[in-house]
Amino acid sequence: MIEIEHLTKLYSANTGDHAALHNVSLTINDGDIFGIIGQSGAGKSTLVRCINLLEQPSSGKILIDGNDITHYKGKQLLALRESIGMIFQNFSLFQQRTVLGNVTFPLELRHENKAKREQRAKELLDVVGLAGYEQRYPSELSGGQQQRVAIARALANDPKIMLCDEATSALDTRTTVAILDLLQEINRNLGVTIVLITHSLAVAQKICNRIAVIDDGKLVEEGKTRDVFDNPKSPITRELISNDSSMAFSDNETTEEKAKFQELREEEA
Ligand SMILES: Nc1ncnc2c1ncn2[C@@H]1O[C@H](COP(=O)(O)OP(=O)(O)O)[C@@H](O)[C@H]1O
Ligand SMILES: [Mg+2]
Repeated sequence: MIEIEHLTKLYSANTGDHAALHNVSLTINDGDIFGIIGQSGAGKSTLVRCINLLEQPSSGKILIDGNDITHYKGKQLLALRESIGMIFQNFSLFQQRTVLGNVTFPLELRHENKAKREQRAKELLDVVGLAGYEQRYPSELSGGQQQRVAIARALANDPKIMLCDEATSALDTRTTVAILDLLQEINRNLGVTIVLITHSLAVAQKICNRIAVIDDGKLVEEGKTRDVFDNPKSPITRELISNDSSMAFSDNETTEEKAKFQELREEEA
């Protein structure tokens, strides 16, 4: 569904051009929860920002459903961005709008009528577990609740793809688990393909069916999550695995969460 072919992104610096991404090729299939993992500065955000053309690639192609999007402009670009939801580490909510106003915002841009967009927003708030919070402001919500609002807003245009850039990195372990569960539900129930950027292998291990590891702008490893964990090929991946202190999800997990996690792993196996 998303085919990235020989993608390179150069940024110019005083010291010459710097390749934030160098010749990256990978395929993300319809229905995947695809993890892109790497240390800070590896090029992860640059990669997702190329997928919705917030950054213009320097060379290479990005095919979505077979169409090269890298030359999209105007209406085509708008339609592309509508078909891709995005959430971030810092939630990026409109502070001066209510929860409802945040979720209706993308529908206002599409000139949907008020009754329709409010009805749709309420449905989405129900999906993310925030029914009854419509009139609150972001400052009156916890981090996890704010990310739920951002997820509802990202779903407003019925996207086929959702890009999550360090979406759980500002959250504690328990809230992270809850948000990952919600993303998994959205993937399963709504059929949304999810690209999950994270520096945490534990986060990727919990919900991704496939992962790619990037380091210094280069793809160093890719495969089924389980295979990469059981048999990491690159030194960087081994280092990420051994460094990942948040691997200790189990420390804070309830018995129910543990059982669920176990079930998941058995399903995968
Ligand atoms: N707009 C920009 N201009 C110049 N350099 C950038 C820009 N955005 C990112 N970079 C550089 O590209 C590299 C990759 O950054 P980024 O994709 O944000 O990494 P990550 O998300 O993995 O932490 C870094 O060296 C960063 O400094
Ligand atoms: Mg980043």
